[in-house]
Amino acid sequence: MVTATGMVILLAAAALAILAPSARGLDRAEFPPGFLFGAATSAYQVEGAYQDDGKGLNNWDVFTHTNSGNIVDGRNGDVAVDHYHRYMEDVEIMHNLGVNSYRFSISWARILPRGRRGGVNSAGIAFYNRLIAALQQKGIEPFVTLHHFDLPHELEILYGSWLGAGIREEFDYYADVCFRAFGDRVKLWTTFNEPNMFTKLAYMLGMYPPNHCSPPFGNCNRGNSQREPYVAAHNIIMSHAAAVNNYKRNYQAKQGGSIGIVIAMKYYEPLTNTTEDIMAARRALSFEIHWFLDPLFFGEYPKEMREMLSSNLPEFTPAEKRLLRNKMDFIGVNHYTAIYAQDCISSPCDLNSYEGNALVLATGERDCVQIGKSTALVGFYDVPEGMEQTIKYVNQRYENSPIYITENGYSQYSSNTMEDMVNDVGRVNYLRGYLSSISSAVRKGGNVRGYFVWSLMDNFEWVFGFTVRFGLYHVDFATQERTPKMSAKWYRDFLTGSGPVNLVQTLRTDS
Ligand code: BGC
Repeated sequence: MVTATGMVILLAAAALAILAPSARGLDRAEFPPGFLFGAATSAYQVEGAYQDDGKGLNNWDVFTHTNSGNIVDGRNGDVAVDHYHRYMEDVEIMHNLGVNSYRFSISWARILPRGRRGGVNSAGIAFYNRLIAALQQKGIEPFVTLHHFDLPHELEILYGSWLGAGIREEFDYYADVCFRAFGDRVKLWTTFNEPNMFTKLAYMLGMYPPNHCSPPFGNCNRGNSQREPYVAAHNIIMSHAAAVNNYKRNYQAKQGGSIGIVIAMKYYEPLTNTTEDIMAARRALSFEIHWFLDPLFFGEYPKEMREMLSSNLPEFTPAEKRLLRNKMDFIGVNHYTAIYAQDCISSPCDLNSYEGNALVLATGERDCVQIGKSTALVGFYDVPEGMEQTIKYVNQRYENSPIYITENGYSQYSSNTMEDMVNDVGRVNYLRGYLSSISSAVRKGGNVRGYFVWSLMDNFEWVFGFTVRFGLYHVDFATQERTPKMSAKWYRDFLTGSGPVNLVQTLRTDS
């Protein structure tokens, strides 16, 4: 017997199921066996516990406290979403979601509070051991990033973070501690998350610590936007190469894992079909993707960058080139959006922007029509075809190297009502579109091995603080309560192969 209230719930659920985009039309079975499906987070954005159990301060702890004016809501990651204390609940959430992998990053300052000058913080090691054990108990593969924007504050003081060559040995040492401590269980490593993006935000636009820039970029009291991003990048490329070399020489054979790097990749379309805009799109791709991947695959910076930057772009010494020969195993691709590229050489533009160093202006509109639906972050549009294009491009240029889509996701405003945030139809449409695009790329031979939604749950979104949300799970930032959004249910249905009927049941049991 169905009660009146039960009937109302059933009808409401059925109505929602009709309105809600279903997982139909996209089948997990289309993806290769062993394909990883996961969700991603990073230490500073979720862990909190910024002073617990011997952790040292990191660059973001200090930056958010001393430059709170640079964060939209003036907040910080001191508590974030308290993953440090709630990791067991979060692993349970992942288990319910049906993911077979979790991408997270290690907080360098939790492991080595003072870099290699100080000792290893055993409580930090113990935390990640507990997290890894909890994941493995649920059959969830850890996918670990060593550096996701945060590093011990002391190293920022000593080296300006990535400007001084001494940081290379620091990173090599830190990576070694991690391989030794966790490598028997962690089989997928990435050295850096989006170094191509954060070096520009830190040393060209001055938005991220250490907050360096010079005109025409940003508004800082120190820095050199024409040179420092490339010096920092050079040190990062060599730090990555040293860690890969160490892993391959001393750990890979006995631990049996693989190692890569994660690069932020927008897809740039020429605004018009003029030669100028076509060249502008190429330059933008070069300054975005080739900047890091060309040295790591071919031992040299791309020609376009050398021509434009001349001596501001460092040269690789013969010894550095030798180190670069030891190739990584896969490329991590963070892809969120496609955008139009407009040439700034033939007609002047305001260069104080992310693509300004490539003499390109990125725009989301052509003839007053947007490239895709907008999302809460300016410049991030829903353009699913960009994913397939990116995969094709990277596979073609970089020896068909295996790719993991290490991040892809959709943002909402925190100012929305709870109901709107949880009924995230926009995110479901976005994820379905992008997953279909990957499936199409794979059908055509794309060498993709896994996919991670950014993010498992709402969290601290860097300079946007808590004002935008990327999570499959809604987090109440006051109580830390986690609530599955429609997208979490949709992802679970996709992963478990359930159709819209199960969506009705899901909504009924969960609401
Ligand atoms: C970063 C994440 C960030 C996400 C959304 C990526 O650039 O790796 O840390 O939260 O994009 O902006």
